[in-house]
Amino acid sequence: MFQIALLLALVGLAAAADRSFTIDYKNDCFLKDGKPFRYISGGIHYFRVPRPYWQDRLKKIRAAGLNAVQTYVAWNVHEPVQGQFNFEGDADLAAFLKAAQDADLLVILRAGPYICAEWESGGFPGWLSKDPSIRFRSSDPKYLGPVDSYMAKLLPIVKPLLYENGGPVISVQVENEYGSFPACDKEYLQHLEDLFRKYLGPSVVLFTTDGDSISLLKCGTLPSLYSTVDFGPGGDPMSHFLSMRAYEPHGPLVNSEYYAGWLDHWGGHHAHVDASTVAQYLDEILKLNASVNMYMFEGGTNFGFMNGATASSDVTSYDYDAPLTEAGNITPKYQQIREVVGKYNGPLSPLIPSSAPVYDPFDIMLTQSAYILDALSVLAPSGPTNSTYPLRMEQLNQSYGFVLYRGVTHESLLRDKKVGDEIVVQLTYLKDRATVLLHRENIVTVQGSIDKTVSFDVYFGHKTLDFLVENTGRINYGSRVGDPKGIVGNVTYEMRTMTNWQMWSIPLNNVTGIPFQNLTAPTMEVPSFFRGTFQLPANVPPPDTYLKLDGWNKGQAFINGFNLGRYWPVMGPQVTLYVPGIHLLPHPQQNELILFELIKSPCGSDLNSCKVSFVDQPILG
Ligand SMILES: *[C@@H]1O[C@H](CO)[C@@H](O)[C@H](O)[C@H]1NC(C)=O
Ligand SMILES: *[C@@H]1O[C@H](CO)[C@@H](O)[C@H](O)[C@H]1NC(C)=O
Ligand SMILES: *[C@@H]1O[C@H](CO)[C@@H](O)[C@H](O)[C@H]1NC(C)=O
Ligand SMILES: *[C@@H]1O[C@H](CO)[C@@H](O)[C@H](O)[C@H]1NC(C)=O
Ligand SMILES: *[C@@H]1O[C@H](CO)[C@@H](O)[C@H](O)[C@H]1NC(C)=O
Ligand SMILES: *[C@@H]1O[C@H](CO)[C@@H](O)[C@H](O)[C@H]1NC(C)=O
Repeated sequence: MFQIALLLALVGLAAAADRSFTIDYKNDCFLKDGKPFRYISGGIHYFRVPRPYWQDRLKKIRAAGLNAVQTYVAWNVHEPVQGQFNFEGDADLAAFLKAAQDADLLVILRAGPYICAEWESGGFPGWLSKDPSIRFRSSDPKYLGPVDSYMAKLLPIVKPLLYENGGPVISVQVENEYGSFPACDKEYLQHLEDLFRKYLGPSVVLFTTDGDSISLLKCGTLPSLYSTVDFGPGGDPMSHFLSMRAYEPHGPLVNSEYYAGWLDHWGGHHAHVDASTVAQYLDEILKLNASVNMYMFEGGTNFGFMNGATASSDVTSYDYDAPLTEAGNITPKYQQIREVVGKYNGPLSPLIPSSAPVYDPFDIMLTQSAYILDALSVLAPSGPTNSTYPLRMEQLNQSYGFVLYRGVTHESLLRDKKVGDEIVVQLTYLKDRATVLLHRENIVTVQGSIDKTVSFDVYFGHKTLDFLVENTGRINYGSRVGDPKGIVGNVTYEMRTMTNWQMWSIPLNNVTGIPFQNLTAPTMEVPSFFRGTFQLPANVPPPDTYLKLDGWNKGQAFINGFNLGRYWPVMGPQVTLYVPGIHLLPHPQQNELILFELIKSPCGSDLNSCKVSFVDQPILG
């Protein structure tokens, strides 16, 4: 018995000692277990794919011939409230890494703390924006303190999953495209390197990624971190790698983000990156013996409120025109990439087919509604916060969703006015959209951010004015990352600062208990919640489907309490919302759909149009 135990211990030691992942500066390649190695990787973010689908997506990535996946780690997923950590369920990073290993894939881990990723605040938790004087991505102690305490939780989870310790993680990225950020704070990068080394040990490959120009690499890298670049299809790949070679004269060539697709913004076009172009330049890169990660290979979804923003907000779908669709289906781009990869990493394992829709499109009626002001006591159970001047969303200890601001007006200012005259309300700084309500009437919607004027006809007798303000997603890229939300400046009413505000936090993290009424007559009232229930056909498992919202304007959709994300079909380009089958209940159970419509519903003229459709194909633009 003792001998067997000793033998097993020795075997274990030998196995760990055999496992190494290093850089060979002499032969310009990686060394895996001492042998030349290059990775052909695909991007997939565990926080954008429901956990029950991880295995399916990873197997499909492996079946394309890839030998690695790359994922970011989203801080705001793991520390939603300061000091409260979550590494379970859909946030179980260790389980994702093990699933990758089970699928015979290595992992390139981009640990942050900043990730960009077109994700809310570039991964920074909303609470980090509470103190507006914080300097993100710098040596500011107000920033480094929370970074240190988060990394003290995250990195010990990663350590046993490093390749050298028997896991799949071959390399870890420090920060993300830091050279594109104006701070250029090398002490900060050094601090992160020391932190990563402290928890991960001396031997794991730590690297940085920057755009492929010397000016970007200048501030993005440290001599002790391996410098890599990112670039998309087009041009001579070696010319793109020249900037990397200026910083790493030897070692493997690495493109950490080879753009297989691109993101979409509300009001823009659906991105399309030609499949044969992607395949052709991938071939060129692989010919150079470079390691490459395709960004994205499976994009997934910005469920809930988690999309990022730049000048405008990113749409809910993160399909990205990637080789695997948002729902994990195989595309012609996947096939073309697989052929190229097969030339280098063949023979390939068999294709895994797409999941076919199992039943035809169907409509459901929305039969109940509840006006926002009638649901406040349920949506904001602790009641309003009072303050002389408006508080920002973060000051209300809220990160996402909506805040209802109620300000007191000054009737005395209307003395010289008559009906038909205009009242002018000015918002000095609004983040990001406000629906302005006067006496249960939606008078206007304004979108941020500076010096927005709302004018409406004189309406005698009103004492308050309501502003339902939506955080449409924090900026994820550039110098304004971590922007605060809500009414950020003061509001004037006929030039007089409005005071004595009441504020209701509406994070919409629980949509049960809303006081719905049966719709018996058409209703124009918005913002309102609308509810419908439906059964799926018998004898079929719930399929993936897509919610089509003809006649609806802008809002948020919930299926069985799960927040599917923002819809805005009139703005586009995204028209349908992805509904993962795992959130639907099989026959004979009742499914519940709730829409929170802000602007205009189709229920105003005819209750027969108060409906939505579930369709079998996405419409993304
Ligand atoms: C790629 O690696 C192979 C095998 O080591 C080598 O023969 C070839 O010259 C390399 N190609 C380039 C472009 O470095
Ligand atoms: C908040 O303000 C409202 C309206 O002015 C008032 O009725 C309520 O008592 C105030 N609540 C607190 C806790 O001061
Ligand atoms: C926010 O949280 C802080 C710290 O827990 C607390 O002191 C403060 O009263 C809270 N503010 C609101 C508006 O709830
Ligand atoms: C709002 O106005 C008050 C009074 O002038 C001022 O003290 C306060 O700083 C202003 N708030 C903002 C966010 O500008
Ligand atoms: C959601 O709200 C309902 C009723 O308002 C309550 O019974 C339930 O416990 C809440 N759920 C969670 C997860 O907080
Ligand atoms: C709404 O209608 C349903 C059936 O159409 C009925 O069972 C229910 O009692 C009604 N609820 C209310 C609050 O009237």
